[in-house]
Amino acid sequence: EEIEKGGYDHFMYKEIMEQPEALANAMRGRVHADEGTVKLGGLEDVMKQLEAADRIVICACGTSWHAGLVGEYLIERFARIPVEVEYASEFRYRDPILNENDVVLVISQSGETADTLAAVRQAKEAGVLALGVVNAVGSTIARETDAGVYLHAGPEIGVASTKAFTAQVTVLAQIALLLGKTRGVLSDADLKENLEALAKIPTQIREVLEQQAEKIEAIAREMRLAQNALYLGRGVNFPVALEGALKLKEISYIHAEGYPAAEMKHGPIALIDRFMPVLFVATREATYDKVVSNIEEVVARGGSVIAITDTGNRGLDDLAEHVIEVPKTSDAFEPLLTVIPFQLLSYHVAVMRGCDVDMPRNLAKSVTVE
Ligand code: G6P
Repeated sequence: EEIEKGGYDHFMYKEIMEQPEALANAMRGRVHADEGTVKLGGLEDVMKQLEAADRIVICACGTSWHAGLVGEYLIERFARIPVEVEYASEFRYRDPILNENDVVLVISQSGETADTLAAVRQAKEAGVLALGVVNAVGSTIARETDAGVYLHAGPEIGVASTKAFTAQVTVLAQIALLLGKTRGVLSDADLKENLEALAKIPTQIREVLEQQAEKIEAIAREMRLAQNALYLGRGVNFPVALEGALKLKEISYIHAEGYPAAEMKHGPIALIDRFMPVLFVATREATYDKVVSNIEEVVARGGSVIAITDTGNRGLDDLAEHVIEVPKTSDAFEPLLTVIPFQLLSYHVAVMRGCDVDMPRNLAKSVTVE
């Protein structure tokens, strides 16, 4: 096991650190940024049906469900196909309405999650195309879906999912761009520009891992004593807030909630005091000014703010206790960079609290029973 950890203390840390490589593998042979093309062999046979879909229903659990929420944003933005994201466990018991031209897309790292598998079977029973975005090759979900795309992220051992999440988002981005192209929504120039941005992500993740590591560890030292934490983000970074909160609660047992930043005033703001860290994703995109107003509201109530923003933004220095910088990418791909500090932060907080990072209490890597 020590050898498998590659010299690191924990699988989770190893898996966080190997994300540049895992994402390069998830794009290898698929993303051709220089030519401006994207090829997904696993979808070739079903492409006509997929591109004519009236609606895509994404089903998943846990972290994979968060990746699905990012996928919804990406597919709607690039391909203009309406997407719904369902917890697989809810989908299976709601007698879901599935029409002929709907497509069910499931996301699963293990390919063995019972509820997600049930969604595949339900789709097939309804005569609807069932696609999988799966990491484990040959797993039950990979076998039972009509077609799909593997992550090629390599085995993930740590119970808290890290590299599978970013690889899932990378694959969903490729599906969204491919559909955008075949449906005639994206121009060749837009496609190429986005593929170039995607191809740069592994290097940019490496920059975050190298340049922000020390700062994140120092923030973890302060955060380790917290009892609650609030994670806020908007748009494509809202699922990152959910994922940040999930990572913290899973492995450090600190209660954490993720919310869309603007919803803060409908509840969570009541909880804010100087003991509660509030973690914002505040990159300079369309709703940046509104997020800054939310940060001001938190500061005015004595809350301490940790903000993730894009490199070179000095606008939060006087407001936030800590500012973590990630490189600029296309707005749509920001989750691939903004989630990295949250993964590292949870890891360090959990280690400092003496928690068993790779095997958190009561959790399983793969939930194969209901
Ligand atoms: C469990 C794991 C999570 C994972 C979820 C879905 O809860 O602890 O890390 O996100 O199952 O698993 P899947 O293998 O379907 O992605």
